[in-house]
Amino acid sequence: MLLGTQRIDAQGHLEIGGCDTTRLAAEFGTPLYVMDEAAIRANCRRYRAAFEARYPQNAIYYASKAFLTLAMARLIAQEGLGMDVAALGELYTALEAGFPVERLALHGNNKSREELELAVSHRIGHIIVDNFHEMDLLGQVVAEAGATVNVLIRTTPGVDPVTHRLIRTGQADTKFGFNIMDGSALQAVKRVLATPGLQFRGLHCHIGSQLLDAETHVQAVEIMVGLMRAVVEETGAPVEELNIGGGLGVRYLPEDCPPSYEAFAEQIATTLKRALDAAGLPYPRLGQEPGRALVAEAGTTLYMVGAIKTVPITEAPGARTYVAIDGGMSDNPRPQLYEAAYSCLLANKADQSPDEVVTIAGKHCETDILIWNARLARPEPGDLLAVQTTGAYNYVMASNYNRFLRPAIVFVADGQADLIVERESLEDLIQRERLPSRLRATSTSTNGRNGQESALRSKAPSDFSIQA
Ligand code: LLP
Repeated sequence: MLLGTQRIDAQGHLEIGGCDTTRLAAEFGTPLYVMDEAAIRANCRRYRAAFEARYPQNAIYYASKAFLTLAMARLIAQEGLGMDVAALGELYTALEAGFPVERLALHGNNKSREELELAVSHRIGHIIVDNFHEMDLLGQVVAEAGATVNVLIRTTPGVDPVTHRLIRTGQADTKFGFNIMDGSALQAVKRVLATPGLQFRGLHCHIGSQLLDAETHVQAVEIMVGLMRAVVEETGAPVEELNIGGGLGVRYLPEDCPPSYEAFAEQIATTLKRALDAAGLPYPRLGQEPGRALVAEAGTTLYMVGAIKTVPITEAPGARTYVAIDGGMSDNPRPQLYEAAYSCLLANKADQSPDEVVTIAGKHCETDILIWNARLARPEPGDLLAVQTTGAYNYVMASNYNRFLRPAIVFVADGQADLIVERESLEDLIQRERLPSRLRATSTSTNGRNGQESALRSKAPSDFSIQA
């Protein structure tokens, strides 16, 4: 499968954004996250157009947790979308990027005073309140600042989507939001209305992620309209925005078949209008927070193939070939966390038929399998492996496990590649570390932090050399 602007060039190399991926690897090193800028922009426009054509009052906030850097925040700002941030670092990045504050929304199930103060002092668009503790804290923060803030109430509609258990959030038993069934959500709205400085603007829910049909969203919309009606009847307060979160799935494998943006929009808009009409309610702004749907397929990770090893399989006759790459769970923890599946191809042999089934093994000291059964064209050491659909929840969830360096990220478009995040350096790994004086006193080696020379430039100490 070829995604976004991916194509195969005359040399048989995978090209993204008009850039030969083998050249990208040579210039920027591997592992490398390659983001297809035109694909992200096209997704933003098409997602918005799909809804605007069917339900004109829209507010689309890109869920920045999926992928966020300064450049990404700028791109989203240019595309005219809003953005949701879910923690201090995301809010800080958005502010540093100069993202229009009125288009920012703050999430979180345990927001700190610092997060709330930063949001209030910058007058961001709105805060989605998750619980009573936070509501009281926010009340104090706005009172101290002499400010007001727009508030949505996060609710849990009690619907149970079909997706990995760790990325479901709409069911009643969840840490997120106010339960609708037990009356907490309505009570929360009443308390916001009674709190000076908090302006009730609407209701929010998010039911889960990587959903491959619109069924659960449809159920949630109906439940949310029921809640809107209860709010209007019991409090008289208008519900200006109904935000249904994110969750639309993407293609990780060729057989994955999420609804198109248009088909998704059609189902949501039809259900919403029908339910609002039946309830006799005015049409609110439809808020959404797509993350994965806008960026996942626009990302590709490039790795260098190293060791290749074939071992007998014990359970069945046959053998398994492990193809080891120079990254793994530190740059993509999703296979380990969610048993996520991915597609891949050899970027330097993209025109050859993929008729070998192999297992892509990461480089970490764990099982660290990235893809169990990958079809590749006769892999050899030195080949360039391109793993697709890595644009969401890869870079943002990357770690330094085994003291790996987080990869660089390039934006590619129209034959140009721009570095938007530099690869971490070895120096970055230790720069925040401090040696207590008792560990500084005795030097075992003349290199490293205690000596004059960097460990990289000096010869290895001989103390542990293997004795003949
Ligand atoms: N809005 C809220 C309140 C959310 O919690 C999320 C995702 C989104 C929007 C965006 O959902 P999306 O459109 O991207 O599905 N790390 C996991 C995904 C966690 C999603 C958390 N919330 C993964 O790698 O699959």
